[in-house]
Amino acid sequence: MYERELLALHKSNRFRERVCYDENLIDLASNDYLGFAEDYSLFEAAVKEVGRFRFHAPKASQLINGYHPIHKAFEEYLCKINRFESAIVAGSGFLANLSLIEALVRKKDMLVLDEHYHASGVMASKLLDAKVFYFKHNDADDLQNILKSEKYDRAIVAVEGIYSMNGDLLDKDIFDVAAKEDTLLIVDEAHSGGVIGETLLGIFEHYGIKPQNNHIKMGTLGKAMGSYGAYILANEEIILFLQNRAKALVYATAPSVFDIALSHESLKKSQRSSKMLKEAILQRKNLANEIFGKKVESPILKLCVRSSSDALKLKSLALDEGYLIGAIRAPTVSVPMLRIILRVGVPLDKMRYIFEKLKSSYVFS
Ligand SMILES: Cc1ncc(COP(=O)(O)O)c(C=O)c1O
Repeated sequence: MYERELLALHKSNRFRERVCYDENLIDLASNDYLGFAEDYSLFEAAVKEVGRFRFHAPKASQLINGYHPIHKAFEEYLCKINRFESAIVAGSGFLANLSLIEALVRKKDMLVLDEHYHASGVMASKLLDAKVFYFKHNDADDLQNILKSEKYDRAIVAVEGIYSMNGDLLDKDIFDVAAKEDTLLIVDEAHSGGVIGETLLGIFEHYGIKPQNNHIKMGTLGKAMGSYGAYILANEEIILFLQNRAKALVYATAPSVFDIALSHESLKKSQRSSKMLKEAILQRKNLANEIFGKKVESPILKLCVRSSSDALKLKSLALDEGYLIGAIRAPTVSVPMLRIILRVGVPLDKMRYIFEKLKSSYVFS
């Protein structure tokens, strides 16, 4: 039925496989930035917490009776530490982006996305009966020009705190443009939450930005928090509207109770240990900087290569050495690249070893 399409994927080196990798490989590929996914004490604490309740599963939508005290406690903690008025948990980051964009962008509104915005937002934008624009990656002037040149009831701008493939930080000026042009600003903190900021809360904290009425923060729990799920933080009115109109929240089973309990434990730990974790992140960024001579802004190290097959060869070289790294190809990115995560759980000497091996095996552009 799909033979031709599959053949085309094979021919262009774009065929992807799911592999259960040996768990003893040194993981430099996942988004488990802080190494929490292998912290057994977090797992145990979450089991204990869930065990206090009669039901360990959500069983229904949040609007029926799936909203659990564990969800509520997590939302309250999120609001307190992030200084947002209100919160709602979501099943995943993909669903959270779908919820935000599908519900908030109404008929006469305009959605403006950074051209590198995540696929979930791009897919959601296709469901809209509203104007959709893309502005040049991280370019506040281009965003401003688009906002000035169009007519709309509301404008909703969507950006990421740290971009998942480039690893670069959101330009602070974008907050200013959103304020000046009176737009809603969705900040997807999938890769910045747990990674930057005084207590690792993300890009708002990193820039010292106090949440305003026009700010929406989306955070995912499957990356630095070593769990699964997501949340949205905003003012009360926006959260009430989402709770009523976002189909991916209304017509979906509430997020896993265990995963939210685990995320709560992880978030508390990242707060408690932020100083030590930040130092560990910095050491790994410095190492990448030293070896590859790049200014590394985040724990996402991007190394461009000349072809998809080069990316695969380097991945396989790393595998032979006992390491897992990401080989990212089209359509995810336009230029093939290695995506190496400077995970806190990986010792510096082990990281140095594979970096030197890669450096001596290939001339990176
Ligand atoms: C920037 C960004 N937003 C959203 C998502 C989706 O989050 P989730 O994996 O929780 O569905 C991802 C990645 O998966 C992402 O990289």
